[in-house]
Amino acid sequence: MKKKNLWLMLFSLMVMSILSACTDNDRETSAAGSRDEQDTNEETNMEGESMEGMMDSNSMGEEHMDSMMNDDSMDNEHMDHDEIISLTDSTGENELIIPPVLKSDSQEQTEYTLRAQTGQTEIFDGVQTITYGYNGSFLGPMLQFEKGETVTINLINELDEDTTFHWHGLEVSGNNDGSPHNVLKPGEESTIEFEVTQEAATLWFHPHPKGQTSEQVYNGLAGLIYINDENSKNLGLPNDYGENDIPLIFQDKVFDDEKQLNYDAAANEDGTVGDTSLINGTLNPKLSVDKEKVRLRLLNGSNARNYTFKLNTDDDFVQVATDGGFLNEPVLMKELTLTPSERAEIIIDFSEIDSSEEIALIDEEGSTLLPFEVSNEIGEETNIPAEMNDFSVTEEEKNLPVTKEIELFGMMDMVTINGKKFDPERIDFTQEQGVTEVWEIYNKPDMMGGMIHPFHIHGAQFKIISRNGETPPENEKGWKDSISVAPDETVRIAIQFKDKGIYMFHCHILEHEDNGMMGQIKVE
Ligand code: C2O
Ligand code: CU
Ligand code: CU
Repeated sequence: MKKKNLWLMLFSLMVMSILSACTDNDRETSAAGSRDEQDTNEETNMEGESMEGMMDSNSMGEEHMDSMMNDDSMDNEHMDHDEIISLTDSTGENELIIPPVLKSDSQEQTEYTLRAQTGQTEIFDGVQTITYGYNGSFLGPMLQFEKGETVTINLINELDEDTTFHWHGLEVSGNNDGSPHNVLKPGEESTIEFEVTQEAATLWFHPHPKGQTSEQVYNGLAGLIYINDENSKNLGLPNDYGENDIPLIFQDKVFDDEKQLNYDAAANEDGTVGDTSLINGTLNPKLSVDKEKVRLRLLNGSNARNYTFKLNTDDDFVQVATDGGFLNEPVLMKELTLTPSERAEIIIDFSEIDSSEEIALIDEEGSTLLPFEVSNEIGEETNIPAEMNDFSVTEEEKNLPVTKEIELFGMMDMVTINGKKFDPERIDFTQEQGVTEVWEIYNKPDMMGGMIHPFHIHGAQFKIISRNGETPPENEKGWKDSISVAPDETVRIAIQFKDKGIYMFHCHILEHEDNGMMGQIKVE
């Protein structure tokens, strides 16, 4: 971070603490109050409740101020949002690991058993790294659901800490959602059952215990869910799992000298980022493909890093799906950004690409994430149909008034939604089951300019109506459950919950979530 900014910030914080002490009586900024009201309030007392929250002793302790004042620690704090450490290039020496498909416990119906456990994983040759996983030592298996079926899942917590099993993107009741309210203590088990009502999509699952999500995900708790339906089976897209339909879970880690994941040492309040890229837990991965169309299901499963994917050859690829389903039409792309927890399905046509050239998936900075080894085998003939879905944002939805306002604000551990930190006892909003409402999400810049907050809502797939008043880009005209919101950006979404219960909404930078950048909506 630039020194000038630091001093400006410290100075401002001091001014604000003085001002907030003087305006002790006027702090009732309710979440339901209009933005105009809040803005006026902020101009007079320079932030009102939200800054007060930031100034209180537990969110901005002396220790913290000390470390901020200390020049040596500045480099580790990553306070300059623009400077994220680069990923080291994949050497391509290891074939990409494909997560196993979880088998049903029963012939007659879909019944899975998932155990959250610890274990040891050979990420580096000859070294055992202590990791967490589901039904294995690191990450989890892929679960397949069929639209319309009833799924039973037996959940077992074999960790020696609390955990939950959250189904990110799945439309289930609040009781089955695996939120911080559905904790399993060490050794506890439970069984959930739900009907799969939504269309084909790539979803995922991960833990969600209060304050511990970032560490558990970082240590390896994450897995994939594929929902299939009639449409997905008839489209003719590549769907040979592990052959031309490839899951890619992108994560970045810091390994210590013993090649261990030491979360406490790596952790950053503003989002933990690492220099080591793992895909499906594979270090230095490569993917061997035939000359055919290959579908890549991309999941940004990292705690905080944003990925912008492109091909090193600058060739185009085609995006076919968003978080929650297929796009209506394939969208030609040169690059694609996914913030934490977002998914996209893309197709690369290796039969059209000159295989004498080295080809790789790279990030914005040019770091090699996944080199491809293209064989001379002609692969399967598959199709990218011109029409894939019937998604639409209706005029009626566009004209609905905004009935929920979300203001994302802050950085480090001073993050809030509508000026508040998460309180499991507080319901922030209510919404009626089956009724569409428009939410407006605003990312309020801070003195440092601010940062992107990936905003996620549980229990529903939603539609983006607009970004800063404009229609969203073509590749966002599909079902979403997480969206990136840039500083000073306003995003409007139309959302309907099909089930009832209490659902979380939060920033998916996992450290922000754990630091309280989360609220609750009760659907009844
Ligand atoms: Cu990925 Cu609250 O979830
Ligand atoms: Cu979720
Ligand atoms: Cu955030």
